[in-house]
Amino acid sequence: MAGVSLLSPVFSWITWSVTIFVYGAFCEGLDIQPFQFPRDVQEGEDVQALCSIVGAKSEVKFKWFKDSSVIQSEKRWKILDHETFSVLVVQSPSVESSGNYSCVAQSSSEEDRYTTQLLVKDEVVVPVVEDARISLLEDGSLRILDTTQSDKGSYTCEVSNGIGNSLMKTIQLSVEGTMCLDIIHQYQYQYS
Ligand SMILES: *[C@@H]1O[C@H](CO)[C@@H](O)[C@H](O)[C@H]1NC(C)=O
Repeated sequence: MAGVSLLSPVFSWITWSVTIFVYGAFCEGLDIQPFQFPRDVQEGEDVQALCSIVGAKSEVKFKWFKDSSVIQSEKRWKILDHETFSVLVVQSPSVESSGNYSCVAQSSSEEDRYTTQLLVKDEVVVPVVEDARISLLEDGSLRILDTTQSDKGSYTCEVSNGIGNSLMKTIQLSVEGTMCLDIIHQYQYQYS
């Protein structure tokens, strides 16, 4: 009998805390679901974050902040609001777009905030190395023979005569499948 009377306070504590937990789960109010931006975002590649809520009992207004300044929908950012979620699109992000982005959801009686980080990487530019497949022609064209998937990406041609700023032009090279390599290869010539 002594054993039972020692244990019962423990049991009643467990019952009590389970009750609180269950009550808490049902009565909790407005809550933003955790969200993230994609990782390894390159400059110029649009990204978006979805801020969605649960438990709202009345109409909710969303606000977005970047490092504590409020974001307005404009050229750099597009905000798409719906009843229970808001989407922030960061358009053509640059390194300066990196930072902490917060979504604030506010109803007449409650508010929640969630913050996540966006890291935009600088585009890495490396000079083209000529080899048996890749050569720089006299007229300035770049020739790539037998293209493979590893050749895909953006190619920038820079022209300068030593006076003033140099001219730059970037093209995207996509390599699709192995069957039509030769055709793609000729098609790319026209751009060089
Ligand atoms: C964003 O938040 C992280 C972690 O809280 C902090 O280390 C970083 O300095 C913040 N960045 C800016 C731009 O405020």
